[in-house]
Amino acid sequence: MIKLSLFVLLAASCTAVPLLSEVEPFITNGELAEAGQFPYQAGLNVSFGNWSTWCGGTLISHYWIITAAHCMDGAESVTVYLGAINIHDETEVGQKRILVQKSGIIVHSNYTASTVVNDISLIRLPTFVTFTDRIRGANLPRRINGNYPTYESVRAFASGWGRDSDASETVSPVLRYVEMPVMPQALCRMYWSGAVTEKMICMSTTSGKSTCHGDSGGPLIYKQGNSSYLIGSTSFGTSMGCQVGFPAVFTRISSYLEWILNHLISHV
Ligand SMILES: *[C@@H]1O[C@H](CO)[C@@H](O)[C@H](O)[C@H]1NC(C)=O
Ligand SMILES: *[C@@H]1O[C@H](CO)[C@@H](O)[C@H](O)[C@H]1NC(C)=O
Ligand SMILES: *[C@@H]1O[C@H](CO)[C@@H](O)[C@H](O)[C@H]1NC(C)=O
Repeated sequence: MIKLSLFVLLAASCTAVPLLSEVEPFITNGELAEAGQFPYQAGLNVSFGNWSTWCGGTLISHYWIITAAHCMDGAESVTVYLGAINIHDETEVGQKRILVQKSGIIVHSNYTASTVVNDISLIRLPTFVTFTDRIRGANLPRRINGNYPTYESVRAFASGWGRDSDASETVSPVLRYVEMPVMPQALCRMYWSGAVTEKMICMSTTSGKSTCHGDSGGPLIYKQGNSSYLIGSTSFGTSMGCQVGFPAVFTRISSYLEWILNHLISHV
């Protein structure tokens, strides 16, 4: 079986961390994002006490962010970056950083690290975040003729601060993105055999364009007119590298709408 590689990026200062040490995702061969181009993109500096990891996430309302379970499982707190392009520039116009304690983190109760199933979690911001030209929520998927689309073969955007090449060892300071087609599920399953379920959605990664370490939890977005629909959340790729052309795998958001909405409603 193909060896999975999660797309989180360990902080350079980390030493032995059993579960995440083999993990890997970022945007490789991507374009630089412009201010306001991906206003739903969140950056997450996840703290586990004496070490931290970097992940992405997606703002879906004034209070909530969707990210990966493998980013947040066991976290003590997380610093959420909103409206950011350059995460090293604290004075960047429009950038906000918000500290969220463990009580604001909800990991899917059936997340299974060994198979990376149900790789989804929610973060509730402690205060209402005002939308601006650089901070805005993405839409959840909508039914068309009664069913959620599979999005097969549509072009979609993946973005993040993940490693920008297989040779790189740190996250990118600036936000990057790729625009690639959603791979038909049957084809993706041929690559990944049993590892890919119907609750996952895959992106083609030809020309070395891919998500990579540090992009975990970040958005896969289908744009229609002026609307941005969150169709996936970055989950894993192959440990052979982000640029080898193997499909990148995301959690399929339409499979978790009930779970998401139940948590949102219970906090109103
Ligand atoms: C973190 O701290 C704990 C307890 O102090 C220690 O056992 C562990 O080795 C430390 N981990 C790292 C990665 O430094
Ligand atoms: C995340 O926070 C830790 C602790 O404050 C810091 O050392 C690290 O540089 C931060 N990571 C990034 C990518 O900013
Ligand atoms: C987790 O799995 C159990 C057993 O299959 C199921 O009953 C439960 O509803 C699942 N929980 C969620 C949040 O999906």
